[in-house]
Amino acid sequence: MASQLATHAKYGGVVPELASREHLRAIVPVVREALARASVSLSDLSAVAATEGPGLLGSLLVGLTYAKALAFARRLPLIAVNHLEGHIHAVLLEAGNQVQLPALALIVSGGHTHLFHLDAAFRYRLLGKTRDDAAGEAFDKVAKLLGFPYPGGPVIDQLAPHGNPQAFSFTLARMKGNPQDFSFSGLKTAILRIFQRNPELQAEAQRRRQFLRAHPRPTPQQLLELTSQTTLDLLASFQATVLEELALRIERALASEPAFRCVIVSGGVACNTALRLELGRRQLPVPVLFPSPSLSTDNAAMIAAAAFPKLARGEFAGLDLKAKAGLALA
Ligand code: KG4
Ligand code: ZN
Repeated sequence: MASQLATHAKYGGVVPELASREHLRAIVPVVREALARASVSLSDLSAVAATEGPGLLGSLLVGLTYAKALAFARRLPLIAVNHLEGHIHAVLLEAGNQVQLPALALIVSGGHTHLFHLDAAFRYRLLGKTRDDAAGEAFDKVAKLLGFPYPGGPVIDQLAPHGNPQAFSFTLARMKGNPQDFSFSGLKTAILRIFQRNPELQAEAQRRRQFLRAHPRPTPQQLLELTSQTTLDLLASFQATVLEELALRIERALASEPAFRCVIVSGGVACNTALRLELGRRQLPVPVLFPSPSLSTDNAAMIAAAAFPKLARGEFAGLDLKAKAGLALA
């Protein structure tokens, strides 16, 4: 396993050029480690699967070029996987027998907030998507503004229970056109306004930034000690608003298409404790399935899971396969 979080934390977000360099550095040792941990060798493999897109072009290119070289050298078929299809398949790795189709799939990550209809033949239909920031991006940007470390999602998840989610009331995004689309930029701007009007919040954020320069990996307790009740309330209210928007879209989709037999929630934000609790509390008419947190954030197992049915169908890619930064699923 390899993580780039420490590299990007210094900059408060993912730096594309650094991401591809880190991929280049990590790919050979990570493949070696994965094979060793699974007690298999290259000659045991039946195919090589890689993400075709969407994503950062540099990082996609590293993975795809490596996969093509491996497939060519070992005379193995190459399988192209859509990153979003990977997130959906993450849930099949653990709860395969509970996935009943058609399913409603919500992918909530740093790059996506997309709602799909997944039919019995595993075809995808896009029901709604964010018009601006992805939910995870909103978590990361709000955390950055308030002087918290990157990625902001896990930090807000840990601190929000100490705040009052009703302390600030934010209006939910009302979408013209497709009511199943999402928008988080209004919420982000509302928080920016509160921050700009409040010199105490600014001074507090500055203190946290200074602390982070000396302690780049703070414990939740250290962060809590550096955080006022107002900021905790702001984080709790922000998180509650994002979760309300996600839960509402799910409820609305289930109400408008009663054929759905389960809900799949995947992507980094699916790790959020309050989101899991909230969707449980709402007593939806069908089961809600989440991958465990390590399979909710980006991982290679989900790409292999999405490749598996393609392997069974003999759906292989040519060695001329190109990385596509903006590849859509439906
Ligand atoms: O799926 P992912 O690992 O990468 C992308 O494809 O983007 O998602 C990363 C995103 C980040 O924005 C991060 O802040 C968010 O997921 N995230 C969370 C939590 N854990 C990760 N957001 C809210 N609560 C969490 N516990
Ligand atoms: Zn992802």
